[in-house]
Formats: sequence, structure tokens, C-alpha cells
Amino acid sequence: MTELKNIVSATNNQVEKSYSKSISLAHRKKFAQFFTPFQLASLMADWLLGNQNLKTVLEPAFGLGIFSRTLLNKKPELSIKAFEVDETIYFEAKEVFNEISQIKIQLENYMFNDWDNKYDGIICNPPYFKFHDYDNKTILNEIEKRLKIKLNGFTNLYTLFLLKSVSQLNLGGRLAYIVPSEFLNSDYGKLVKSALIKSKILRNIIVINFEENIFDDALTTACILLCSNDNNFHKVKFSIINKLDELEGMQSFISTYPANKIDGLTFPFSELDPEIKWRKYYQEQNGIRYKNLIPFSNVAKVVRGIATGSNEYFTFSKSKALQFGIDKKYLLPCICKAVDVKDNFFTTRKFNDLVNTDRQAFLFNAVGAKDEKVSNYIELGEKTGVDKKYLTACRTPWYSLENRPPAPVWVSVFNRSGLKFIRNEANISNLTTFHCIYPFQSGLFDNINIDVLFAYLMTDVAREIFEDNRREYGNGLQKFEPNDLNKAMMFDLALLDKNTEKKIMVLYKKYRETVINQSPDDTLLEGINQIFKNKYCQCSTATLTSNTQNYSSFPLKTAKNHHRF
Ligand SMILES: C[S@@+](CC[C@H](N)C(=O)[O-])C[C@H]1O[C@@H](n2cnc3c(N)ncnc32)[C@H](O)[C@@H]1O
Repeated sequence: MTELKNIVSATNNQVEKSYSKSISLAHRKKFAQFFTPFQLASLMADWLLGNQNLKTVLEPAFGLGIFSRTLLNKKPELSIKAFEVDETIYFEAKEVFNEISQIKIQLENYMFNDWDNKYDGIICNPPYFKFHDYDNKTILNEIEKRLKIKLNGFTNLYTLFLLKSVSQLNLGGRLAYIVPSEFLNSDYGKLVKSALIKSKILRNIIVINFEENIFDDALTTACILLCSNDNNFHKVKFSIINKLDELEGMQSFISTYPANKIDGLTFPFSELDPEIKWRKYYQEQNGIRYKNLIPFSNVAKVVRGIATGSNEYFTFSKSKALQFGIDKKYLLPCICKAVDVKDNFFTTRKFNDLVNTDRQAFLFNAVGAKDEKVSNYIELGEKTGVDKKYLTACRTPWYSLENRPPAPVWVSVFNRSGLKFIRNEANISNLTTFHCIYPFQSGLFDNINIDVLFAYLMTDVAREIFEDNRREYGNGLQKFEPNDLNKAMMFDLALLDKNTEKKIMVLYKKYRETVINQSPDDTLLEGINQIFKNKYCQCSTATLTSNTQNYSSFPLKTAKNHHRF
């Protein structure tokens, strides 16, 4: 055995730092090369080393081998096999590990190799690639063929790495993966969570909730999954760490495993529901502090705004319309940019201001037009290839717009400061920068008064409850897909008595006026917030226990069994 070099005894990310300095960010992004901070790698290595029989280790996404360096530092006699698909980093890594015979690095795609080998330890920070950024069809076929599970076409590559590795664990073996926490709370994650529950090897999910991004340049939040292929612990523990120094607490889980203390965030497999967002298991849900909640989808439908396929071509300002001679009747009034909406009420006057300041405020909407200027503009689109774009190519004719009537309410899609709802009083269309909200105006449930609904949507308490269903990106960014909102909960406004409704409307109208007059009086909004909070507050304060309350256990009310307060 070769004498271990300094490189293995280094306890930092110097190798990765030098590499990142010398290689373009574009190249690193192409291969998803975001490196694991040493402290986290060390914790993960300790989990593997807790298996006293650890001899063979697999590193499926090697990079510069932070995991192997950490493992060999602690147990030099290990035998490690690694995969790396990028030649550039591979040759760099070969040089770093020069003559360290315990490691064999293969320049191959992990997803298509090594299916039949098993290991005592598997440790990985897999590449994060959305379904359109890798050959998802071929890889999903491979997974289907080998593991006999059918996955959602939107599945991110990192979860496929995970499922393959789970199948390669020896009896008694340990696995540690650091992955974005996205799958815990996303649709494509349901099948992955289900597979993890079935495998019965998941032991601890450590959600990393640092304020700053842990991976430079990557907009993700992360979690560490610790798995063990043993029969000792039939539960899953959720841990949250907010700062690096809280990692020490995790060390105690590792060193005492499997004789761990069962605390409030530990769940038997039978209690974990793969169909719901798992945030519920590790974060107190805002909704549980309130009573009489119903799904938002009972009162409204949320759909995304209009996607044109080429905003540059389809959006028009007044001067662009003049330049191309496009008549007003072929232009659809539309909000194109989030910055053009400053507050909660978008009036016709504000729309006219946008037009007069030459903002993009229209969409080309000229199907069936017999107009020379329109024909010229369509020809221009064909000459410049707009008709061949991903979305336009699927439409007939290619320049037709999605049929989406103006929505009474919009909601911003991607933000730092929480959801923002806008009352579309100008009755114009919107691009995907907002989702459309269409309150139901007739049907099984009581008709909702849109103004009462909107008054509610503007409150902090509504936002708080919606946030239970958010998706998170790093750096405090939140995102809501239309279905996240459809499935989120809200107060059952049909239970409000007429008097309370009246009080809310008085405050609402005053607030609206102050906004329109550009001196918003937030105390009025706070007044509305308080009314709602008082009406729907649970009397006893619920706390997050080992069996956190499931929303589905709230009795869903139909129009018939409503009780008024
Ligand atoms: C997120 S980085 C992690 C690197 C290192 N293990 C760490 O934690 O710092 C993922 C690495 O996997 C490599 N990679 C990407 N796709 C791969 C594949 N299909 N098979 C093997 N390696 C792959 C990338 O080039 C990159 O070096």
C-alpha cells in the first residue's frame, strides 16, 4: 500500500478552491460541480465508518474526492471505487490522488455502470440536473429496467443516483448522500420518498437550513440522508441544523446509533406519507395554529400565466406598435413584467400609465387578421425562426396565444418577501411572471365574495399558511407552482358572519383607497389580519409532536355542514 500523502490528511477544501479558480463557472455548471464543504463531508464519512465492517466504498460522483480524502484520513485501509464523467476534473483528481492505490477512479457515467456490484459504504454528492438537462429518457429506462420502478419524467438526476446506490448497498452497509432538499417537497419526489420508505434503510434526514448557500453559486438548499441496511432501527429521524457548529449534535446520533433517543422528530416508516410535502415532519406548520381550514382549490383555481414562447417577439409597447404599424385591435393588453406592478391594486389608470410611458403592455394577438402590417410581422417571425421555438412550434397557427381570460387576481411566482397578491382591476391578461387566480363563481361551495377573498389574501396570516406549501431555493428565495397554491390551505371564509364580513369590507375599502392615493395605511391591513386571526385561531396552541397533525385530518366542510361563527 502506498504511503498516504498530505492530501489525505488535509482537513479543508483547498483542492476544490484551487480547481474552482482555474476552471470556468460555465464548465462547472455543465457538470454540476458544486463541492461539499469539508465539515459536512467529514460528518458523512463518520456515518459510513460507524459500520465496523466497512471495507469497500463507492463514490459515484467523485469530483476531487473530498469524501475519499476524509475517509482515508480516518481509515487508510479502505478500498474505494469511484466514478467521474468529466475528463477535466478526472485528470485533475488523478493527479491529486497520484499513487494512492486504495482508490480506483473510473472515467464513466455512474448511471450506466457497476449495477451488479455492492459495497459496505456509499457516499455521494450527486449532480443536480433538471429533467431537460440530461438524457432523462435513457436514464429513466435504465432505472426502470434495473429497479423495476417507473418514475416521473420530471425527476431530477440526483434522485436517480440515490435510488441506484440504495440498490448497491451490502447487508449492514451504510449510505450517506447530500442532496437538495427539493425532492422532500416536490411532486417528482413522491416516488423517490416512496422507494426510500419501502427500502426501510432511511435512518436520518438532516435538513441544512443555513442562511447562506452552502454550495457556492448553486441556488439550492440541502439535506443529508443517512441510510443503513440493517435491522436495528425502524424509524426515520428528522434533524435541522441552522449553523455549522450544530453539526456536533449530529455526531451524537452517529456515535450512539442504533441506540438513539427517540425524540419528537422521529417517525416510524408506517407514519411517513410519500404523497405529502415532508416539510410537515420537520418544520412547525403555520396552519396548525388555526381551525376551519379548507384547501384553496375549494374556492379558486390557480393556473400559470400566458407563456408566449418568445416574449421579445410577442410583447409590444406603444412605440413598437407604431414602428410595425400594428393596430390596437391586434394587441392584447397584458402585464409583462413583475416590476410594472408596484402594489396590491392594479387599476386601469395604472395600465394607461404603463402604455404612456412606453412599457411593454400588449401581446401580439392577430389570429385571423387580414391586415398587411400584421402579415409582415408574422413573416418577420418566420424569418427570424420564432415559429420554430419549443412552444410556438406546437401551436396552430404558431403565433396564436394560449387561451387564458384575464384573471381577477394575480399572485407573484418567485420572491424573497413572501407571496404577493394583486387585484387585477384593469381586467388585463398576464404573462408567467404571475399566476392567474380564478375564484369559483358558482358550484358546490358558497359563492365567494372576491373582495373578501382578496382582503384575506393580502393578510400576513394568509401568507403564513400558504408558506406551508412553498418550495425553497437557496438564499431565501421561495417559489410556488400553481399546484402548490391549489393544494395549500386557507380559512373557510364561508363561515364568516355578515357582520364580520362588513367590518372587513369597511377596512378593505379604506385600505384600497390609501393604496390608490399612494399612501398605503398598513394599520388597516393589520386590522383585517387581526379579525381573521381572532376568528380562526385554535384555542389550544398546537406544538410539533412526533405525530404532527395531518391536514387531511381536518374535517373538510361542504356547503351543507358549514357553521357560522
Ligand atoms: C456535485 S459534484 C460533487 C463532487 C464531490 N464528490 C464533492 O462532493 O465535492 C458532482 C460530480 O459528479 C460528476 N458527474 C456528473 N454526472 C456524472 C455521472 N453521470 N456519472 C459520474 N459522475 C458524474 C461531476 O463532474 C462532478 O464532479
